[in-house]
Amino acid sequence: MRAAIELRGVWHTYPGSRRWALEGVDLEIREGRILAVVGPNGSGKTTMLKLAGTLYRPTRGTVRLWGSDFWASDGSQRLRLRRLVVYVHEKPVLVRGTALHNVAYGLLLRGYPPEEALERARSVMERMGVAGLASRERGQLSAGEAQLVSILRAVAAEPRVLLLDEPTAHLDLEKRRRLASLLRELRDRGMGVVVATHDYLLARRVADEAVVLEEGRIRVRGPPGRVLEV
Ligand SMILES: Nc1ncnc2c1ncn2[C@@H]1O[C@H](COP(=O)(O)OP(=O)(O)OP(=O)(O)O)[C@@H](O)[C@H]1O
Ligand SMILES: [Mg+2]
Repeated sequence: MRAAIELRGVWHTYPGSRRWALEGVDLEIREGRILAVVGPNGSGKTTMLKLAGTLYRPTRGTVRLWGSDFWASDGSQRLRLRRLVVYVHEKPVLVRGTALHNVAYGLLLRGYPPEEALERARSVMERMGVAGLASRERGQLSAGEAQLVSILRAVAAEPRVLLLDEPTAHLDLEKRRRLASLLRELRDRGMGVVVATHDYLLARRVADEAVVLEEGRIRVRGPPGRVLEV
């Protein structure tokens, strides 16, 4: 099966930096699979996810989305492809308004009628057991609640590939368990999921495949049981 997102020979350096954040990365992200990305602080996990999500343009190499060279595509093609992938920042970014409005926000941006957007938002909040937060204003959410809201906003938008950066940093054990179960359900419904994480328990619970980054290079890849030995 063709990869949904493919990084080929990707090198990346940040403006003003003299180091490579990524050095010659090859990666394939598939629909209906969960990929865990692990590695020490500064090893390049966030950079790799942002390149896969087309938030950054690689310094060298190609990023293909469903076979199309993203950065060689025209504006309308880029817009179409970009809608299929959502990257969730590790620090929650919430818009003004209630938690429910925030979860519905991605759908509202995509042009869904407000009633339907709110209905879908309510349903994913219920699925995660956080329907009780719906009417809470953004400033009244705890760190973990805000993190869940930002994850659920992406989930509600039903992308074909979901890129989660450190999704469990603020979550309690019960929420981690629920998130793992939600991710497996999304995977079983055909969504591709990538989780960059230091949470080996989450990675082992959900991943079909794992990669280990070190100093901007993929050092190991394979089945989580083998790759994620602690
Ligand atoms: N905005 C930036 N400007 C310059 N260098 C950066 C920037 N963001 C990251 N880097 C550098 O790029 C490299 C990879 O960083 P990245 O954030 O991808 O690591 P990470 O694996 O996600 O780390 P963590 O586990 O701490 O989240 C590091 O050397 C980091 O210092
Ligand atoms: Mg990171």
